[in-house]
Amino acid sequence: MHLEKNVERVYISAEEIQERVTQLGQEISEFYPADEEIVVIGVLNGSFCFMADLVRKIKQPAIIEFFGCSSYGSGTESTGNLRITKDLDRDIADKHVLVVEDIVDTGTTLARLRTFLSKRNPKSIRIVALVDKPSRRKVETPVDFVGFEIEDYFVVGYGMDFADHYRNLPYIGVLKPEAYESTEN
Ligand code: IMP
Repeated sequence: MHLEKNVERVYISAEEIQERVTQLGQEISEFYPADEEIVVIGVLNGSFCFMADLVRKIKQPAIIEFFGCSSYGSGTESTGNLRITKDLDRDIADKHVLVVEDIVDTGTTLARLRTFLSKRNPKSIRIVALVDKPSRRKVETPVDFVGFEIEDYFVVGYGMDFADHYRNLPYIGVLKPEAYESTEN
């Protein structure tokens, strides 16, 4: 499979991403008190590029963690139905937690994750998402820092996948319709 053959167009360029990530890093650094430690939690797998770039723009001391989960079931309830594939390696009680998400779509995953993490009694929970699709929201859940609000497109690249492909594209793109029919093209 040729990586870029199925890309219909570049939706957000690598340069635009870097510029916005730098701004987000500044917003986050100004939001937290200087010298206050933050546990930054990247939600696997989609956040790995964003996480790597963002943490280098944050001025506070950061503890880097990853959390693997996927939500199942179509219910809109904000508890349960969260399958944990990788739990945190440390206790977050009484810590400032910053959750790093690639994209918020219906909001289901984020709402469930927030409920799950809240039970561990962190000092605060804030969310940063690179991309937000507000028109798709089914579960209202606050997103504190947003990189880009986009229309209802399925996007890939810079960590985001379709059927486990395209995560290593340096930009955020939209695929050609035929690409969704097969990953063998
Ligand atoms: P939600 O629970 O519906 O908000 O879905 C969130 C998750 O679905 C994200 O963390 C992504 O893994 C995936 N997702 C939603 N929309 C897209 C997209 O446009 N491209 C790639 N993955 C997406």
